[in-house]
Amino acid sequence: MIYFQCDYAEGADSSILSRLVETNMEQSEGYGLDKHSERAKELIRKRIGREDADIHFLSGGTETNRIAILSALRPYQGVISADTGHIAVHETGAVEATGHKVLTLLNTDGKISASHVREYVKEHYESPTAEHTVQPGMVYISFPTESGTLYSKREIESLYSVTKECGMYLYIDGARLGYALASPACDITIEEIAKLCDMFYIGGTKCGALFGEALVILNDNLKKDFRYMIKQNGALMAKGRMLGIQFEALFEDDRYFKITASAVDKALKIKKAFKDKGIELYGSSETNQQFPLLTDEQIAKLSKDFVFEVWGKEKDRTIVRFCTSWATSDENVEALIAAIEKL
Ligand SMILES: Cc1ncc(COP(=O)(O)O)c(C=O)c1O
Repeated sequence: MIYFQCDYAEGADSSILSRLVETNMEQSEGYGLDKHSERAKELIRKRIGREDADIHFLSGGTETNRIAILSALRPYQGVISADTGHIAVHETGAVEATGHKVLTLLNTDGKISASHVREYVKEHYESPTAEHTVQPGMVYISFPTESGTLYSKREIESLYSVTKECGMYLYIDGARLGYALASPACDITIEEIAKLCDMFYIGGTKCGALFGEALVILNDNLKKDFRYMIKQNGALMAKGRMLGIQFEALFEDDRYFKITASAVDKALKIKKAFKDKGIELYGSSETNQQFPLLTDEQIAKLSKDFVFEVWGKEKDRTIVRFCTSWATSDENVEALIAAIEKL
């Protein structure tokens, strides 16, 4: 079987594995205070053009979202998200379990807009019962979104400005950031992202690391005592060096950006193969996740050799997800394209 089910089916990029082996017997400080974690942070700060950024390495996306959001909000505040946002639907209420409601807005192609956010916040403050309801304190977006779509630079600028206008924070979930930045449809750089939000994370788990996410805190108000928050939430790893080493390898010679670019390239070839076959795609993803609409018969044929995820229903067809990753081989892509051609 060939897996196109997700972007975490394989282990880790070889640059990481060799670095872990090379440094295995080194002795170092615990809890991420080692020289590799420091160097990784320096490499990231340089790459994003923000020497003033605080960076913390965490082990997974849900954990990062939960701690980042919990740290930023006052007890009575909630976080605005698309109704399809990962924190709203796929994190077992991890944010809500901290006492902060996820305030959902209807998505369009996986996204929310600045005008929609402004309208929601205005309605909140104009309500005579505002104080009896959850106050919006942050906007959460994922980039790319859960359905592989991208916010334009203009859309992110507008969202950032509306958060400033309304006294809120903008937080960007970059679980698949590398795959967004590598897309030919992406018009924003990582340096620009680092100027247009209060906090974002650079996803490692889905982009070549064994595990790990790099949370980048840009707003000074959010920096204080962050390590206390990490520790209290059980996320300060004693062998934190393992995270530092991975991001050190990923941010040397732009490795992170090279391996994710190859995945997007392959996903777009798969997208073209579906389109050439006359098969419609759900949404407008230009990143590593593609969502063809298949009949039961097409699903049965492809399922003989390939593993992919069922995403939802659209009239008489099923939306399925094919993912490429940093590890997807040309050979597997060719095999899939040949099977699509035979459908
Ligand atoms: C956008 C987004 N954020 C966060 C996560 C959560 O990551 P994890 O499964 O590592 O908790 C995912 C996982 O699929 C995701 O797609």
